[in-house]
Amino acid sequence: MVRVEDINASQSYTTTTVALVTSVLDGSINVMSAEWTLRASIDDFLIAAFVGYERETYRMIHSTGEFGIGYCSDDQGYLAHVAGNYSFKSYDKFKLAEFKTFPSKHIKPPMIEGCISNFECLVIDEFRTGDHAAFIGKVLAGYYDSEKKPLVFHRGKFHHIGGRMEYDRPFD
Ligand SMILES: Cc1cc2nc3c(=O)[nH]c(=O)nc-3n(C[C@H](O)[C@H](O)[C@H](O)COP(=O)(O)O)c2cc1C
Repeated sequence: MVRVEDINASQSYTTTTVALVTSVLDGSINVMSAEWTLRASIDDFLIAAFVGYERETYRMIHSTGEFGIGYCSDDQGYLAHVAGNYSFKSYDKFKLAEFKTFPSKHIKPPMIEGCISNFECLVIDEFRTGDHAAFIGKVLAGYYDSEKKPLVFHRGKFHHIGGRMEYDRPFD
């Protein structure tokens, strides 16, 4: 066993998905990678997204009160790389990589094609969590593709998901 105590280095020893978060302001579309999003309630179905205050995405969601979430499939690593390493401040990410979209039904930000799942979210709450803003989104529409596999993010790198483990539920 090699257990290391290091409060800073330990931060990257979590494992997450990567969402492509879409937002629209004044007719311009942005897309940002976010590993910090999660389902936060079943009924209502809520998704929380944690966005740094310096991100253009923060400004756009804060101003408009809506955002799209597309959970990356494992063939979208390059899109996650581009959306997460370039800012709308200086780049049109839709010109840097082939982000294909389909229209949302209830919100302006479009959905990204090729994801394992997509959600249209209306912001119902916003609060500060340390150096990030938490946006709580009520899901107005959800889509999924059962043939896709999720992109996994661990220690700063993208991974494929591993094999599943077979456990029976003990009391069924
Ligand atoms: C894999 C990955 C995950 C990321 N997760 C988050 C996140 O959860 N929250 C956040 O604020 N930034 C996150 N980032 C950083 C933003 O995606 C990055 O700063 C982006 O350039 C912001 O774009 P914008 O300024 O156009 O909004 C992540 C970056 C990568 C590569």
